[in-house]
Amino acid sequence: MKTAIYPGSFDPVTNGHIDVIERAAKLFTKVIVAVIRNPEKKSRFTLEQRVEMLKECLSGDKNVIVESFDGLLVDYARKKKANIIVRGLRAVSDFDYEFQMALTNRKMAPDIETLFFMTDYKYSYLSSSFVKQIAHFGGDVSELVPKAVAQKLKEA
Ligand code: PNS
Repeated sequence: MKTAIYPGSFDPVTNGHIDVIERAAKLFTKVIVAVIRNPEKKSRFTLEQRVEMLKECLSGDKNVIVESFDGLLVDYARKKKANIIVRGLRAVSDFDYEFQMALTNRKMAPDIETLFFMTDYKYSYLSSSFVKQIAHFGGDVSELVPKAVAQKLKEA
């Protein structure tokens, strides 16, 4: 039984996130998509909306569950008995932050391993921030995010 945690802000979830989740779901018994409740970071969507959108987009994946968490990621991982943290890597620019985060987590919890998934080249440029900007100015995000998310971005 191998449980992996895929944590993030998911504000909102993009096709790049979905790609990582679906690939992880093929490797692990269970994947917990963990949406951070972060009151310090201003988010476009509420925690509930971010969780709801993910659930809607992932309803077909039987071994994937969506939850929210606050506090330290490693504490949450231990509580869930997960010893793998999954993160996606897009360009080299992600590396510094991800490296720092993985090493910080390893220092606190040497028993928990961070595994990186290389993005599919189709999504290497894709970020939630750009999606929000494009949608804000009326651009087309239909190829960047799941249908339900594109709809929510239009409504909001
Ligand atoms: O999608 P994001 O915003 O890049 O995700 C960042 C996230 C949520 C994975 C990271 O901020 C996190 O794990 N926060 C929880 C607090 C924590 O454990 N901090 C110590 C490690 S940096």
